[in-house]
Amino acid sequence: MRLTIHAYKPKARLHTFTCFAAILLTVSGCATGSRTGTEAANRGVVADKAMVVSAHPDASKIGLEILRKGGNAYDAAIATQFALAVCYPVAGNIGGGGFLVYRHHTGETGALDFREKAPAAASRDMYLDSLGNVVPNLSLLGHLAAGVPGSVDGMVKLHEKLGTLPFAELVQPAIDLARQGVVLTPREARMLNNAKEEMVAYNKHLPYLVRQQTWQAGDTLYHLDLARTLERIRDKGRAGFYTGETADLIVKEMQRGGGLISHQDLQEYNAVWRTPITGQYKDFKLTSMSPPSSGGIALLQLLTMVEPYDLKETGWQQPQTIQIMTEAERRVYADRATYLGDPDFYDVPVSGLLDRTYLKNRMDDVNLAQATPSSAVKAGELPIYESDQTTHFSIVDQFGNAASITTTINGGYGSMVVVEGAGFLLNNEMDDFSAKPGVPNMFGLVGGEANSVQPGKRMLSAMTPTIVEKDGKLFMVVGTPGGSTIITSVFQTILNVVEHGMTMQEAVAAPRFHHQWLPDEIQHEPDAISPEVRATLESKGYKLKQRGKYGAVEGILVLPNGKLEGGADPRGDDMAVGF
Ligand code: GLY
Repeated sequence: MRLTIHAYKPKARLHTFTCFAAILLTVSGCATGSRTGTEAANRGVVADKAMVVSAHPDASKIGLEILRKGGNAYDAAIATQFALAVCYPVAGNIGGGGFLVYRHHTGETGALDFREKAPAAASRDMYLDSLGNVVPNLSLLGHLAAGVPGSVDGMVKLHEKLGTLPFAELVQPAIDLARQGVVLTPREARMLNNAKEEMVAYNKHLPYLVRQQTWQAGDTLYHLDLARTLERIRDKGRAGFYTGETADLIVKEMQRGGGLISHQDLQEYNAVWRTPITGQYKDFKLTSMSPPSSGGIALLQLLTMVEPYDLKETGWQQPQTIQIMTEAERRVYADRATYLGDPDFYDVPVSGLLDRTYLKNRMDDVNLAQATPSSAVKAGELPIYESDQTTHFSIVDQFGNAASITTTINGGYGSMVVVEGAGFLLNNEMDDFSAKPGVPNMFGLVGGEANSVQPGKRMLSAMTPTIVEKDGKLFMVVGTPGGSTIITSVFQTILNVVEHGMTMQEAVAAPRFHHQWLPDEIQHEPDAISPEVRATLESKGYKLKQRGKYGAVEGILVLPNGKLEGGADPRGDDMAVGF
């Protein structure tokens, strides 16, 4: 068959965005990011040696300020995480959890798991009624939806191992921001107004995030209770959250709303250092998150399965490329539903899932003339071996260290429950468990025994904070929110750069598509698939469904000259800053 090469053609709006970001940088005077001229017409912000890309300008600037003071990427990550809890309450948090993947300038890599845990009083069927049916919304909204938060212990553990500046100095900027107030962008005002009804319904008090009138862009939101909570964390570290006044406020909140988190759950919560997932795609070495996230394994599976195909040749968003990626995604998400869960409770067959022969064989029945129906795809037989809301930020410091962090309260504003007197939202991460085998969660994902609810267990995640190396050197730091779409967004962003020649900014902005086995459909953003390509795919039996824009990929690419290019997703208010 003769193949046509389709190069990616950046759209004018990418240009508009990057110019906008550059103007913002100049106006705020917060950084010296600059564009590199003609060789980089569609590049994002370019900086000489250090960069922070996050979902909110205030958080990016706070992270950068820490780097300017001589802090390292991990110090900046801690400061950015606490700042996002203030200025980006839809997903930034101290009431949720997340994952960090790092690469030290020495080349050493590691991963920190600060995922939430099920409370001790949780049980397998806690979201089922007496007939064994899933009770709608019980794992999603209100006090029962919340897992034991991990973010604060995660930041404390990160600081203990890799931080250099005093912990208090890393929390203080978030406290200052909380007291001085955050000016709402149009998007934030809209999101808060949309959440109003549920926040009123699922709190026993009127949370400060709710306003009698609607929020308007330009309004200032003050976080005074949160400032006091952050002060306790600043002064006492872990004890400022998991014991004492903050813990009392959380437990009281649980009692008011029929939730399960107890003092003992809080005291016993522990973030853990894990061995990250590593693997190779062509010349690139990938380091990504290990279970209890499915992200790293799934990303490596996807890249290994598409590696034999020449995607550069078949072209960006062209039928054959979409088919190959979709067929890989269908099979990977089927494996995910069966084999992935918390490794402390379930023996995840990591080596089997990443076995190259297994992955090659998984693609053997792909027929490019006809879609494989998902009903014909089950989890694979592994070789025998041993045994829409999250947020991501990427940081590279002036010493060459890199941090890739994805953190979440799950849905937008999590469970909608604000801890009275403490000023922060609790997650609804319990929905990431499989409430009942085969019944989809809020992302339409199904699961089984590996991801059933058990006391003290971590719910399976799709978060995929990732670091890519080339020739033994740092090449890219990348990740995104987006629930089940996280894995495929990171997958596409990496391919956009390494196969389709996009800049970092183009790669994060490019419209995306996603398949997750069930439902059996290619979900895609507006403009992701042309009418001609859609017709070709439909003629081969693929079902396509347009959805709203999703994800917010934040990436940093090391350019051949050693400078850093930030890719800040134009789908949100995201910003790359650097020096
Ligand atoms: N809550 C989304 C995830 O962890 O995948």
